[in-house]
Amino acid sequence: MKNVQSILAKMTLEEKAALCTGASPWTTTPVERLGVPELIMSDGPHGVRRVPDVHAMAIESLPATCFPTASCLASTWDVDLIHKMGEALAEECIALNVDVLLGPGANMKRSPLGGRNFEYFSEDPYLAGEMAASIIDGIQSKGVGTSLKHYAANNQEFQRFSISAEVDERTLREIYLPAFEKAVKKAKPWTVMCSYNKVNGTFASEHTHLLTEILKDEWGFEGLVVSDWGAVRDRVAALKGGLDLEMPGPQDRRVKAVVEAIRSGKVDEAVLDESVRRILNIVFKAKETPKNGTFDVDAHHELAHEIASEGMVLLKNNGLLPLKAQQHIAVIGRAAENAHFQGGGSSHINPTKVAVPFKELQAQAPNAELTYAEGYPTDNSFRQDMIDQAVTLAQSADVAVVYIALPTFKESEGYDRQDLDLTEQQVALIKAVSAVQPNTVVVLNNGAPVAMREWIDGVAAVLEGWMMGQAGGAAIADVLFGKVNPSGKLAETFPIKLSDTPSHLNWPGGAGEVHYGEGLFIGYRYYDAREMPVLFPFGHGLSYTTFSYGNAKASAKNFKDVDGMTVTVDVTNTGNVAGKEIVQVYVHDHESGLVRPEKELKGFAKVELQPGETKSVSTHLDFRAFAYYHPEYKQWITEDGDFEILVASSAADIHEALTVTLESTLSLPCILDKESTVREWLADPRGKAVFGSFYAQIEAQSRKIFGGGDERYGNENAIGMDIMDMMNDMPLVSVLMFQQGALTMPAEEMVAGLLMQAHSADQ
Ligand code: BGC
Repeated sequence: MKNVQSILAKMTLEEKAALCTGASPWTTTPVERLGVPELIMSDGPHGVRRVPDVHAMAIESLPATCFPTASCLASTWDVDLIHKMGEALAEECIALNVDVLLGPGANMKRSPLGGRNFEYFSEDPYLAGEMAASIIDGIQSKGVGTSLKHYAANNQEFQRFSISAEVDERTLREIYLPAFEKAVKKAKPWTVMCSYNKVNGTFASEHTHLLTEILKDEWGFEGLVVSDWGAVRDRVAALKGGLDLEMPGPQDRRVKAVVEAIRSGKVDEAVLDESVRRILNIVFKAKETPKNGTFDVDAHHELAHEIASEGMVLLKNNGLLPLKAQQHIAVIGRAAENAHFQGGGSSHINPTKVAVPFKELQAQAPNAELTYAEGYPTDNSFRQDMIDQAVTLAQSADVAVVYIALPTFKESEGYDRQDLDLTEQQVALIKAVSAVQPNTVVVLNNGAPVAMREWIDGVAAVLEGWMMGQAGGAAIADVLFGKVNPSGKLAETFPIKLSDTPSHLNWPGGAGEVHYGEGLFIGYRYYDAREMPVLFPFGHGLSYTTFSYGNAKASAKNFKDVDGMTVTVDVTNTGNVAGKEIVQVYVHDHESGLVRPEKELKGFAKVELQPGETKSVSTHLDFRAFAYYHPEYKQWITEDGDFEILVASSAADIHEALTVTLESTLSLPCILDKESTVREWLADPRGKAVFGSFYAQIEAQSRKIFGGGDERYGNENAIGMDIMDMMNDMPLVSVLMFQQGALTMPAEEMVAGLLMQAHSADQ
């Protein structure tokens, strides 16, 4: 590695400012006289979108493997497989001369309407964090960099360049940041990309709290922060906030603005030097990996195939699947001939080849008779003639397989979906076909949940094929014919209808703001809390075999938070074919100081089992599995008490429950202040120690003033209430105000004195 410090010392102010702004759409500014080369970046995240001339904003890119998109990747729940995909992506970067691949995206799926949800992993931060860390580690293990994006709270496309995500600190810490935090701490991405939007009123590109305090200082991020393309409004504010590199370039005005800010003393040169140091580190690190050679097109296509078959989710099956290869199959829907395997926008890949679903079916069933009807047009028009043609085919076949792709005018980067629906034509098609053919299978290609209630009861099976990557057509055939036993499970809830969804009343915002009013309760956290039925729960996915669970054990019944504990469970394949099960471990807190979700995913494992085979599966649950973020302590805290460990095959299918008891090793600072309530004083051990003995006096005095405690009324007073139920939630100072006459000093002074005693232990 070059001596970055000595190069930095030789750079002029102009050179330093120029390095912090791109030289072209995809490259940084080289400093030739000092031997600083340019860094080449390309999109991501599920393929390499390398344009032939990196100095131009071209649209057409060089051929590269289009892997399945993140919705499908997360549904594999297979971190090792995702790691392999990362390695393959890196090999393609090396062959295509790319230093940093712009991905993965670790944003949460706040609403299924998010236009870009297909590029994101999950509604659950734990699962998304594991996936992001694994793919980053895979890519970077080969000396190619990544860009973890879009940091942060970029959960919609509507007004994504300007809207302010209004989100409280606890929700940020527990829902929107943990996937980034895990990926940063575990996999150390070379770069993190800030998002376009504002967070609580400040552009993410200028957000000192997010970029400097949390990402760099708290999480120890050592790489560089790059702007999303065009995310910087005020270059100087961004520099001060912790944004190192602005993209794309060139932008002479920005360079001049930085020079000017340093010259005028508005920004300390040390701030610029810190960004330059970070950029130089990454530039030189990247150049340690020579970029040349070719990549194995066929092997990567095969890997994309394997991932697609692991990530597809069999949502419904009345026993029709797997199909028998000798049947007469009516293949309906234009997605059978025109595979819909990726989404629109910056992630769009020019695939090396494409597996056509129809041909793949044919290849696996040479003795079957396959017929084809297009079923629906490319646009949003309604074509009864196409439906009629499909119905005629379906009637004469043994089985109908209907390939439905959600069109790009309904789902893409850049705009959100307006509803959860397929097109009117697609719904009518499925209904008409299944009305004449009970053996109807629907294969879906989409990046996020669609509503199915209008037609699901009439069909025999539904396979969620996602945006399945270029080889996905073959994976569908594998699953339909049982060559692959499906093992994917949903990384997001499929709701029954749009108005059921967590952010429905706060989506997509307006007047410049979107309020994250549902707080912690997105995805299954919300449906759990509302006890609301869903179409398919988080973690759901069917197999051609069955599994049983037993013998769940905790490594310790009583444990310290810092030690965590390990859960072990035996899983048995009770069916006739080999299969894979995804074991999910959720944690439920019996009692907590602040409201918590009913349960949260904190561990998982995917296990392959032969018929009759049993394997023991273990997951370690660490401190964070039991902790929650307390906005007043400004840290993750644990509390003594019982937790339930739930071993499940989906969020709605819990097989084993273990009760364990945690001992917190934290010694928390006293957070009582002059507005603390009586109940808060009693809940705090130091508060209780100094104030507890007065409580009886306060109660007696309160009852004397307001009545109650009288034999005639029990605890109620003449105004029909228990006064202490109200007073306990009043600030101590307010309670004392009512008792002023009985006090030897003013209420404020008394509280100040108690506070001093309570806080003295912290000094
Ligand atoms: C997208 C990023 C992408 C960048 C470069 C932006 O519009 O939000 O995800 O990496 O463009 O193409």
